[in-house]
Formats: sequence, structure tokens, C-alpha cells
Amino acid sequence: MLDRAAKTFFQLLARSGTLKKLASRYGLQRPESFARRFVAGEGVQEAIDAARALEAGRLRLTLDLLGESVTNLEEAEAATRQYLAVVDAVVQSGIERNLSLKLTQLGIDVDKASAVDNLRKILERADPAEFFVRIDMESSRYTDVTLEIFETLWGHGHRRIGVVLQSALYRSEADMARMNALGARVRLVKGAYKEPKAIAYQNKADVDAAFERMMKTLLTSGHSPAIATHDPTMIDTARRWVDETHVARDTFEFQMLYGIRRDLQSMLVNEGYRVRVYVPFGREWFPYFMRRLGERPANVSFVIRGILGE
Ligand code: FDA
Repeated sequence: MLDRAAKTFFQLLARSGTLKKLASRYGLQRPESFARRFVAGEGVQEAIDAARALEAGRLRLTLDLLGESVTNLEEAEAATRQYLAVVDAVVQSGIERNLSLKLTQLGIDVDKASAVDNLRKILERADPAEFFVRIDMESSRYTDVTLEIFETLWGHGHRRIGVVLQSALYRSEADMARMNALGARVRLVKGAYKEPKAIAYQNKADVDAAFERMMKTLLTSGHSPAIATHDPTMIDTARRWVDETHVARDTFEFQMLYGIRRDLQSMLVNEGYRVRVYVPFGREWFPYFMRRLGERPANVSFVIRGILGE
């Protein structure tokens, strides 16, 4: 109950424009800034440095230039140009070529056709350099349009792209069947957005049960699936399931967020599993950071201790 209230509270904060502006101005400037535990930095070079450190520990990575919910086409075009610059910087750096992005960052709220054009521009630069590009899943307002755009791009021959499905939504098991039939790579998550009862499980136990069902199906009949969770119980279930069903460890990967359960990330790598870390960076880090706080009350006390300078 408290967890749900915290999630709602932090999701409200995440949408606050004033807090977002203040945070972008001050938050990451001090190197010891509390948000730095979860966000690699503001610039692409900091993200590349973080990626190199991860790669030194045999972790894989996906870079996410933070940003969402742009309200005009100029901002969407600016985000697209930034992504193109990220593609170039990653190629130059020699780190793994893997990106995650959000459609609201590319202007889906303003004009769908322009957002698709922006995504195409990024893919046209990223594809020849053999990037993998994952389209993150946002709130349920965007599920249909995200899957539809994904299928259109797939139909146009883009194969180095992937989607995300959220076990919290009732519809996701049917969406998974649709994506598996297509041959698409799915990242399975529980879902970071507060959703109404009419379309989503409200109890954590139900979200977890759906995650487990979907995870098992993806591991045995998905296409290079990504099991994205920090939940040790779920990760244990996955490990037992792949052993029982003789699924090879190099046919799927675990994914976790930057700065969360680094111990578990290393442990899994040492056991021979593939682990990919989602590395967010950029000036627009505030909504992402608020969602992470809402997921785990312990993170709030970490932040408060940081603010008090303990
Ligand atoms: P959950 O919140 O169910 O907690 C279970 C247990 O996991 C906890 O008891 C604790 O042990 C551990 N744990 C969880 N969070 C922790 C933390 N911060 N610190 C320490 N331990 C923690 N969502 C979305 O809607 N769209 C998307 O595109 C993505 N993309 C994405 C990519 C990747 C790589 C990850 C890992 C996650 C996402 N998410 C996401 C977020 C996802 O939906 C979900 O909100 C978070 O991962 C939290 O759920 P968990 O399954 O990790 O644990």
C-alpha cells in the first residue's frame, strides 16, 4: 500500500516541469550529486566512460539519452540530432553499439509521422554501423502506437530493433505472442508507470506472477529475450527454468539499470550469464530519477542522506 502511494507520489513529481528545470540546472553538476548513482552524467563522454568501466567488468550496455514528453517539433528534432551525435560518438569510442530510446522524446505527442521520421533518421545512421536500437515502452497511452510503429519498421526490413513489454498490463501476454510470432526481440519488465485497474494488475503479486509466466515463455520460445529486473527471486526462477528446460545461457540476457544491484550484475556475469546494463545520461534526468525513487523507498533515504551530506 505504502509502495503504491510512494510510486504515485514520485510519478507526480516526475511530471513537475518546475522541479525538472531546477533539477537539470543543479542536480548533476556536483560530482558527488545523489542522482549520479543512477545517471552516468550529463554528456555522452561521461556515458562512454561509464560504459567502458562496465565493459571492463564483462557487462554489456545500452545507452539511453534521457528525455521524454517533448511538446514541440523543434525539441523532437533537437533530440534526434543529439541521438545522431551519440551514434557517431559511440562508433568513435569503440564501445558496444546499443541504444535505448523513447518515442515521446522523438515527438510522438506532437505528430506521429514526424516522430516516425525522426526514428527512421536515427536508424538510417545506426543500422549501417550495426547498432541495436530498443524502443522503450512508456505509459499505456503509447502501447498501441509503439507496437504499431515497431511492426511498421520491422515490415520495412529493420531487424536490429527491439521492443519492451510490461507484465503489469493485462494485454501484454497477447502482445508477447504477437511479438514472438514476428521474431522480435522483447525486453520484459514489470512496468514503471502507474496504470488504472481496468487495464493493469494493481497487486505486486499479480504483476510478479504475470512476469514469471511471460519470462518462462520468452526464455523457451522468444528471440534473444531480455529479462529486465533486479528482483533476486525472479532471477533465481529464471536460472532454475533455463537449467530445467536446457536453454543455453547465451540465448538470452538479464538486464539491470545503472547503479542498481551491481553485486548481482557481477555475480551473474561470473556465473556465465549475459548481463546488460541500461546506462542513462543527459540533462533530462529528472523524471527517470523520480521513477527510480518511487520504486524503492530505500532509495529515498539514500537521497536524503546525500542531501544532508552524510
Ligand atoms: P521490483 O520493483 O519488483 O522489486 C523486487 C525486488 O528487486 C526488490 O525487493 C529488491 O530486492 C530488488 N530491487 C528492485 N529495485 C531495486 C533497487 N532500485 N535497488 C535495489 N534493489 C532493487 N519500465 C518500463 O515501463 N518501460 C521500459 O522500457 C523499461 N525499461 C527498463 C529497462 C531495464 C534494463 C530495467 C532493469 C528496467 C526497465 N524498466 C522499464 C523498469 C521496470 O519496469 C521496473 O519499474 C523496475 O525494473 C523495477 O522493477 P524490478 O523488477 O526491478 O523489481
